Amino acid sequence: MKGMPLKIGNLTLRKPIFQGGMGIGISLSGLAGAVAAEGGAGTISAAQIGFLEEDFDENPLKANLRAMGKELKKARELARGGVVGFNIMVAMNHYGEYVKEAARLGADFIVSGAGLPADLPALVKAFPIKIAPIVSTEKSARVLLQYWAKKFNRIPDFLVIEGPKAGGHLGFTKEQLQEFGPDTYGQEVEKIIGQVRAYEARFEKKIPVVLGGGISGRDQAEQAFGLGADAIQAASRFVATEECDADPAYKEAYLNAREKDIVLVKSPVGMPGRAIHNAFLERVEGGERIAPKRCRGCLRKCNPAKIPYCITEALIHAAKGQVEEALLFCGADAYKIHKIETVKSVVEDLLAGRVQ
Ligand SMILES: Cc1cc2nc3c(=O)[nH]c(=O)nc-3n(C[C@H](O)[C@H](O)[C@H](O)COP(=O)(O)O)c2cc1C
Repeated sequence: MKGMPLKIGNLTLRKPIFQGGMGIGISLSGLAGAVAAEGGAGTISAAQIGFLEEDFDENPLKANLRAMGKELKKARELARGGVVGFNIMVAMNHYGEYVKEAARLGADFIVSGAGLPADLPALVKAFPIKIAPIVSTEKSARVLLQYWAKKFNRIPDFLVIEGPKAGGHLGFTKEQLQEFGPDTYGQEVEKIIGQVRAYEARFEKKIPVVLGGGISGRDQAEQAFGLGADAIQAASRFVATEECDADPAYKEAYLNAREKDIVLVKSPVGMPGRAIHNAFLERVEGGERIAPKRCRGCLRKCNPAKIPYCITEALIHAAKGQVEEALLFCGADAYKIHKIETVKSVVEDLLAGRVQ
């Protein structure tokens, strides 16, 4: 396979593909372990990962930290020596504790978005874990690279670019989402990669660039490599797999979604998000306030008395398959998915253009 294996320090990927982290409870050990076993990088989402633990309601932090250990162990058992890490969002309360736990557990990497992970290098200083920010614009890449270089004299071990067609929370304003088409975003990607290559030269160290968002087939994958990416990141395609940890009803919602059902929503996290339109979103759009049943303190910035709905509750409903009471995150191209596949067939399909 062209450009393979991909080296990230002492880590080796046999295939240039990352599975994007999907919270809550969508990318756990089952999916991450299967992707890692295929030679890609499997990502466990740490977001409210302990939602099935008995003490989650009483002590979410403790439940989440315990579940991180359990899921990493299970993923390692499935991964056949492959690469497994965590996605930990900056917007999460107790971010530092989750990061330190991932490092302590010996995960291979941490990918952090939903905010700029300014202090991530300091949090993992004593550990060999690889760290990567998620950026969406040239500006966020520049700010982050400059800050890490100046404050910590270090660069990311790799960098994830998440484009406007991604699922979940998006690192763009609503205006930027309207502005960026495939061509203009391609130019933005080239500018980000230009920034990265300048830091590589300065630090004399390779920073693999991973590009995701709307990579739904081999053509999009080849476009990403054509723009200079070292690897692709896919998430939505992996939801509709046998190995994905999501409830079957969630996977079914992907298969049934039409293009017009996929909409942008304003999330209580304060960022736009992309999801499948359903009865839940209809209630929210109608101005109904769906008051949280209980606050688990998931976000650093949230006023439970004011939010239109609780992001944790809406995403836990999704993970449990209560799809009409849920926020069903998905990428812009999720409507193109028509069948449940295996992780192996998704990886083979997306990377078909890479086989020499
Ligand atoms: C269901 C779902 C949940 C997601 N949750 C997260 C998350 O918790 N943290 C994060 O950084 N990105 C999240 N994302 C973004 C993905 O990791 C990925 O970068 C993006 O969706 C890639 O685009 P694609 O879905 O078109 O392949 C999520 C995406 C989806 C579809």
